[in-house]
Amino acid sequence: MRAATDRTTAIRRKNQALANPAAEPRFGRVRVLVVGDVMLDRYWFGEVGRISPEAPVPVVKIDRMQERPGGAANVARNAAALGARVDLLSVVGRDEAAGKLRKLLRKDRVSAQLYEDASIDTTVKLRVIARSQQLLRVDFETPPSHEVLASKLRDFERMLKRVHVVVLSDYGKGGLTHIAAMIRLARRAGIPVLVDPKGDDYARYRGATLVTPNRSEFREVAGRWKNEADLTRRAEALRQELKAEALLITRSEEGMTLYQRGKRLHVPAQAREVFDVSGAGDTVIATVAVMLGSGADFAQAVETANRAAGIVVGKFGTAVVHPAELFGGSAETGRK
Ligand SMILES: Nc1ncnc2c1ncn2[C@@H]1O[C@H](COP(=O)(O)OP(=O)(O)OP(=O)(O)O)[C@@H](O)[C@H]1O
Ligand SMILES: [Mg+2]
Repeated sequence: MRAATDRTTAIRRKNQALANPAAEPRFGRVRVLVVGDVMLDRYWFGEVGRISPEAPVPVVKIDRMQERPGGAANVARNAAALGARVDLLSVVGRDEAAGKLRKLLRKDRVSAQLYEDASIDTTVKLRVIARSQQLLRVDFETPPSHEVLASKLRDFERMLKRVHVVVLSDYGKGGLTHIAAMIRLARRAGIPVLVDPKGDDYARYRGATLVTPNRSEFREVAGRWKNEADLTRRAEALRQELKAEALLITRSEEGMTLYQRGKRLHVPAQAREVFDVSGAGDTVIATVAVMLGSGADFAQAVETANRAAGIVVGKFGTAVVHPAELFGGSAETGRK
């Protein structure tokens, strides 16, 4: 009986592997370089017992805290959780949050090169949460100085030599001033460059291999679309204008759509339960990067990223997905 069950499981696994050619990727050999704006996501949980005597606001008594790497740091830890070897290049302040970020990234097995700029605050997004409701978000951020960014570009060039794929995670905090030069250097070296964009100036992303706007980011740069055919037209126009090989629009509960020259691939959302969608875009670009780095094609990478996103939205806050969750425990994770 037991043997029969084992055999059935083995056959099911094999069928899954056949249905999904990328079911057993070798992520342990993939090297990813992530550059962009890092931040520390902070959550303070507490109870509201009374209204303050000082102002008409609730008083929250904090009883628990959580901290997670955010922004480009979340992309990096997502790639590392999949088993890839990850370098992260970014700028932080000289403060307590920077120390916390370094510690968390070390635990997540991300090799982080964080430049200290004493004149700035490390970007921190602090949420105060009571009864599962966000009461307040407090942001600390200042754009990094020019000199620090210039030395970052030199290190980028040096680190390029040993990676398979580059991810540029733009959160609009000023850490990617030299993005055009980075894209040029990487493409000249034949390394694919994936960009998670922000803002309306996409000229700076020209020449990237893949650009991954979400719906509102795409709308901001390409305008409102009337229907699916109109969306496809606008996507193809933007892809061509950027001279990108592919454009991936992530569409929240609608899933995601990949546009390549004359080709469109739509994958519907797969989430079983949606708990927290924040950071899903980070998981998507990290998964696509690791998949492409392991030799998968765009379609396989996008299909897998969509499954990863479906898993991560079922977890609290910015979270990660492990190969066992994605591939049913059959993948090599590169872990010892
Ligand atoms: N409500 C949802 N239901 C199901 N799947 C979802 C939902 N929201 C997100 N996803 C999955 O996550 C992917 C990325 O989400 P989305 O398009 O919201 O990215 P994003 O806005 O960049 O996310 P974030 O900025 O929070 O990291 C989607 O393509 C989809 O696969
Ligand atoms: Mg996003």
